[in-house]
Amino acid sequence: MINNDTHNRIVDSQFSARAQSYLTSAVHANGADLDQMADLIGQRPEAIALDLGCGGGHATYRLATLVNSVVAYDLSEQMLGVVADEARRRGMNNVITKQGAAESLPCASASFDIAVTRYSTHHWYDVPAGLAQMRRVLKPGGLAFFMDVTSPASPLLNTWLQALELLRDPSHVRNASLGEWQHLLNTAGFTVRSVTAFRLRLEFTTWVERMNTPESHVQAIRSLQQFASAEVTDYFSVEQDGSFTVDSVLIAAQANTIPG
Ligand SMILES: C[S@@+](CC[C@H](N)C(=O)[O-])C[C@H]1O[C@@H](n2cnc3c(N)ncnc32)[C@H](O)[C@@H]1O
Repeated sequence: MINNDTHNRIVDSQFSARAQSYLTSAVHANGADLDQMADLIGQRPEAIALDLGCGGGHATYRLATLVNSVVAYDLSEQMLGVVADEARRRGMNNVITKQGAAESLPCASASFDIAVTRYSTHHWYDVPAGLAQMRRVLKPGGLAFFMDVTSPASPLLNTWLQALELLRDPSHVRNASLGEWQHLLNTAGFTVRSVTAFRLRLEFTTWVERMNTPESHVQAIRSLQQFASAEVTDYFSVEQDGSFTVDSVLIAAQANTIPG
């Protein structure tokens, strides 16, 4: 029996205290991934969509302009409060909020046409369980979109990324590599239709301020950056002020007729 309670309490406390800053975060509010997701979905006035780990709700707001209704789902009640207020402010009365963990979705099987998760899976205690839930609640043939920061295949670069992420935010679990994503999605019962890679620049000050990273951890991140090899600093385009650039991905997939 998997027990994710203690980890999820950390996720909740990290995000609940900063819900508003995820609404206003430029990194989250904008992105070619959102544009591409919208293009791939098109207008689907009959469709019911799920945004899993909705955070400040940026995928939710985009979906709400395309589909019949969107369930914005998150561990954090405070995040959901921010999303409900913002949806109201935008006149979107087709957004419904629901609280819970990805790994135990309280939704009926085959009840969604579209499911999205953006910048959330790297916080999940049990990604295979969450993806299996996502597959379960999708109708066979339903569309799924997975957006997240990915780790490089190289062990050196991978370790370096995870170390920085964890120092910045104790609710970080792990960024999967593209190869791991393919395996996870095949196992969960999805067929990958397209993979689009992006580069995402993280401005150092806003990146640490958004998570209220303790000063000792900020110094540890700076120290790691100082001692990183040229291979690392080149790959992540580490800048003078500590800003750096990571890989991210949008994977579009379909739910198989027979679950994984
Ligand atoms: C970086 S924010 C998501 C950003 C948002 N999706 C967007 O597009 O702007 C990560 C969110 O995932 C949520 N989260 C983390 N682990 C979760 C889990 N196991 N189940 C549900 N939500 C989770 C957090 O509470 C947080 O609100």
